[in-house]
Amino acid sequence: MSSISSKAKITAIGTYVPQRTLTNADLEKMVDTNDEWIVRRTGIRERRISQPEEFTTDLCVAAIENLIERYNKSVKDVDLIIVSTTTPDYVFPSVASQIQARLGIENAGALDLNATCAGFVYGLHLANGVVTAGLNKKVLVLGGETLSKVTDYSDRTTCILFGDGAGAVLVEYDEENPSFLSSYLTSAGEGGVHLYRTGLSKKMDLNELNDSGYIVQNGREVYRWAVTTVPLGMKALMEKSRLDLKDIDWFVPHSANLRMIESICEKSGFPIEKTLTSIEYFGNTSSATIPLALEKGIMEGKLQPGDRVLLYGFGGGLVQAGLIVEWTAS
Ligand code: COA
Repeated sequence: MSSISSKAKITAIGTYVPQRTLTNADLEKMVDTNDEWIVRRTGIRERRISQPEEFTTDLCVAAIENLIERYNKSVKDVDLIIVSTTTPDYVFPSVASQIQARLGIENAGALDLNATCAGFVYGLHLANGVVTAGLNKKVLVLGGETLSKVTDYSDRTTCILFGDGAGAVLVEYDEENPSFLSSYLTSAGEGGVHLYRTGLSKKMDLNELNDSGYIVQNGREVYRWAVTTVPLGMKALMEKSRLDLKDIDWFVPHSANLRMIESICEKSGFPIEKTLTSIEYFGNTSSATIPLALEKGIMEGKLQPGDRVLLYGFGGGLVQAGLIVEWTAS
């Protein structure tokens, strides 16, 4: 049943979202849109927005503090910190190094990774790899974003979607009860031009890019790509793991848009009722949507230890990452 080796167990989770709420009614005052359109096309009602002096590191530290409090865990002996983010406080140093310093974790490696909205799943995949290989024993994996700082609030096609938040999980060595069953990673870089934010280069292949510094997307193309290819990726993952979708208790797709998730469920034949999302009150928080959805599942009494969970991230790159885990944090 397990198609990857695993000696690693997810033992705890914590999350954080900023206090400030941006509702659809607020957006109606900023751009030509309305609550009915946004809810019908995306399923989003509200998103959380960081303060001007609140950055991704702050959100991530708060998520770890939440984890420590709830699970009575120490992170002082963590030996690797992996942060998935597209909105680090600085280009460098990394958010992971800032977290290491802020929490006084003395003997840890620290790195940020960028796999956009699939980054949290990439982080878990890597954490399982290093722990199983015996390279690390206790790894913090985070997905944290302050997308509001790179969102153009005069562009109604993007500003309705994005929000801020963070999630953290702890992955620890455990040979007897490992969490990780199977994984599937893929990239379609030729589609990179459909979702980007410029850096040093203002061109991609022959395309001149929009150099505003904001998130730029061709929403229809991204939508079409996701609803076509995610069901295929899920199928490939199930075949690889020799499991059937019926064996999955909860599907946790990246919360980009509720309509996209409905379409993915319909095409893959997975019941929407067994899906956990964080879209309605947090919007698309990129790397953070999956841990925020797991948290919601726990709070609502749905997600239980022993449940088999299919995590599936997808986004700018274009990249995808699927992972089947047994949920082991109560
Ligand atoms: N309010 C009201 N009308 C809007 C609007 C808004 N916020 N945004 C766009 N519209 C209009 C368009 O201008 C268009 O008008 P027209 O027909 O007169 O030209 C109409 O609504 C339909 O636009 P369209 O782009 O076809 O809408 P859509 O149903 O595809 O929804 C998105 C747009 C952005 C919500 C949708 O494409 C989407 O979610 N795409 C994926 C984005 C994503 O997930 N990105 C991150 C991936 S990790």
